[in-house]
Amino acid sequence: MSKYLLLRHREVPTLNRLEVYRQHGGFQAFHKAVTSMQPDQVTEVVKVSGLRGRGGAGFPTGMKWSFIDKKAWPHYVVANADESEPGTFKDREIMEGNPFQFLEGVALASYAVGANAAYVYLRGEFWQIAGQLDQHIAEMEAAGLLGDNLFGSGYSLHIYTHLGAGAYICGEETAMLESLEGKLGQPRLRPPFPPSFGLYGKPTVVNNVETLTNLPLIVDRGAEWYRTYGTEKSPGVKVFSLSGNVNRPGNYELPLGTTFRELIYEHGGGLSSGRKVKAIMPAGASSSLIVATEQALDTPMDYESVPSLGAQLGSASIIIVDDSVSIAWLINKTVHFFKHESCGKCTPCREGTFWMQHLTERIEGGKRTREDVELLTDVANQIKGKCLCALGEFSIEAVLSGIDRFKGDFEVKTSAQQLEVSSQPSVVMQE
Ligand SMILES: Cc1cc2nc3c(=O)[nH]c(=O)nc-3n(C[C@H](O)[C@H](O)[C@H](O)COP(=O)(O)O)c2cc1C
Ligand code: SF4
Repeated sequence: MSKYLLLRHREVPTLNRLEVYRQHGGFQAFHKAVTSMQPDQVTEVVKVSGLRGRGGAGFPTGMKWSFIDKKAWPHYVVANADESEPGTFKDREIMEGNPFQFLEGVALASYAVGANAAYVYLRGEFWQIAGQLDQHIAEMEAAGLLGDNLFGSGYSLHIYTHLGAGAYICGEETAMLESLEGKLGQPRLRPPFPPSFGLYGKPTVVNNVETLTNLPLIVDRGAEWYRTYGTEKSPGVKVFSLSGNVNRPGNYELPLGTTFRELIYEHGGGLSSGRKVKAIMPAGASSSLIVATEQALDTPMDYESVPSLGAQLGSASIIIVDDSVSIAWLINKTVHFFKHESCGKCTPCREGTFWMQHLTERIEGGKRTREDVELLTDVANQIKGKCLCALGEFSIEAVLSGIDRFKGDFEVKTSAQQLEVSSQPSVVMQE
């Protein structure tokens, strides 16, 4: 019995060769779907499997597909391979190691929603992977697994790759669609959502690479089999990208519902410094900071349990922070990232991340006043709920949770220090 469902190349290193993938059951599911199932039946199997999107929001995949507007034509599928969240590096391993399972997943999603064209949108730095995928797509076409009138069914499908230019915001699905259309990658106002108004204004499904890679096994082995993994509400396996102060950072494919403790200590080999865990960021830089209590360490990593700790599972980029790290320093790093990546389309995010960067620089540098911390909290609260897309919300998660849950790291140390800085303006505008 294989240990892996997604990272199967770790057991079969040549799985990135078409003939090897086919020897291991590859394209059985796609053939079965196209020759013996109606598109709605494929959607139904995925719905019953309980598969939830692995790109961050955990939205039920089958349900998303059923929102496709059947009256409008054509339909598109876009595979989100932007993978720009700091701490996330799972899609890259999947596309490099097990590319045909991913591409078969794209094909199954396309068949289910009636798309004859699918796009794989990759971050610009993945140009080598895009080249490899182009080669794999050509091999599939030559083998009659892509192209016109597949298996004599009348169904046709073509897959194309597209490289972004290196902007984190292009991972947000509507900014990605704008970018695919050749426009500036900035989010659209929603609604309408992509299943009714997507690429070129047509019904479009956007799914993450890992989400899509689950599909061949679900269609081949069935929804009930898939549900034997994970928890009732979060079925299946997840690739957890583990990083930070651990001995063995890397990707770990485990059932959803595995505890933080098991991931960190059994798989990740414990902390590299031999110190204690201070905080956990379960969703990369976009994450609220979890205080690493014994209870938190024993919490299952799934879409229902992580929110009980005041955070989200997101794309499961688990960053471990040991007790040598200052949270004031950490939030300065996350804010710096969001300030750099803010697309500038809406004011609270564009201006707010700018001011948060200035304030966290002062606070991290130690020359902080109580007013600086209060002002930072105020600026973050001004961003909250007022942005056009989730990037603005992501930018304040670590800030507000950090100030609230790690108060000691934001203390004003001495009254002399406070006096020294209180005569200066609390924020200095630059350029
Ligand atoms: C700022 C921002 C960046 C995002 N980056 C990614 C990304 O790199 N990869 C991804 O799959 N989803 C990303 N998402 C989520 C996508 O908008 C979308 O929800 C996801 O691709 C849907 O796929 P799923 O249903 O399979 O999870 C991002 C969202 C936001 C707001
Ligand atoms: S929240 Fe930020 S990234 Fe999103 S649209 Fe507004 S300015 Fe752009």
